[in-house]
Amino acid sequence: MDKPRLYSGMQPSAESLQIGNYIGALLNWKSLQETHDAFFSIVDLHAITVAQDPAKLRENTRRTAAQYIASGIDPDASTLYVQSHVAAHAQLAWVLNTITGFGEASRMTQFKDKSAKQGSDGTTVGLFAYPILMAADILLYDTVVVPVGEDQRQHVELTRDIAARFNTRFGDTFVVPESSIQKETAKIYDLQNPLSKMSKSAESHAGVIWVLDEPSVTAKKIMRAVTDADGGVVFDRENKPGVANLLTIYSTMAGRTVQSLEDEYAGRGYGDLKKGLAEVVTGTFGPIRARVIELLDDPAELDRLLAVNAARAASVADATLARAYDRVGL
Ligand code: ADP
Ligand code: NA
Repeated sequence: MDKPRLYSGMQPSAESLQIGNYIGALLNWKSLQETHDAFFSIVDLHAITVAQDPAKLRENTRRTAAQYIASGIDPDASTLYVQSHVAAHAQLAWVLNTITGFGEASRMTQFKDKSAKQGSDGTTVGLFAYPILMAADILLYDTVVVPVGEDQRQHVELTRDIAARFNTRFGDTFVVPESSIQKETAKIYDLQNPLSKMSKSAESHAGVIWVLDEPSVTAKKIMRAVTDADGGVVFDRENKPGVANLLTIYSTMAGRTVQSLEDEYAGRGYGDLKKGLAEVVTGTFGPIRARVIELLDDPAELDRLLAVNAARAASVADATLARAYDRVGL
């Protein structure tokens, strides 16, 4: 039997990915690519739903691609491409716009959050239609599995509703993706504010670990992470969110159980825990950083890889788009 189809993506919204992207997405993708026919996109069309500097966007797109590859996404086994290189995304999104209710789209909580940040002048129709473009991304590849975080669950549900509606109205066209998020992935919090999710778009970068930071910078950030006055290395999300966050990062990056870390650091201070964690993180990100620098050093080869992958993506996406156009009467 063929491997189940999988689709996921990330926005090229910063020069570097942060450790939450690595643990919550890339590590997971790396193992899923073994068992799935995986499509991994760098979603630049999504990125322009908020203002972007054109030169920086182009640069960040290439850097994000390099970080996917350096983190272990295999561009031969998986299809790793830039969303805007495959025209069918924008084309199918338009068709899906026309069968999505305005009220239905208005209920997306991520839009409410993002538009509150942008203000009414900064909030574009593109930002509003973001989830419908995401539906197009998923449906173009006859996707079964969509490994995304909890914050994207509502968008996957919308995708299912749109696909089912289209199929009912125009005849069987789209595969309706699975609703549930496949695997529980760890959620990483800001080192300076362990109650808020670490994010590329955090206002302050003091508590963000970047994949491409110099090892000394990463170590300093970890040593300065907010903890508590209790002193015990114990996993207690409610009462010790800072320490719990460090243990989560440590455990996922080192591939060890939290219990074994608690045992190792019992009776030792947070300083030791942080030192150990800094070693693990810089030990993982050091080679990734070196590989990214190497990949960016040969832009022609990186562009060639992305072009080959975009062509492979387009050959699947164009067939789905043709089917949808035909059904609608275009
Ligand atoms: P960011 O907030 O850094 O811009 P995105 O919203 O672009 O991240 O998410 C890209 C991917 O990274 C998604 O799969 C998301 O679930 C994952 N991700 C982002 N931040 C975290 C985090 N703090 N912990 C775990 N996973 C995360
Ligand atoms: Na983001």
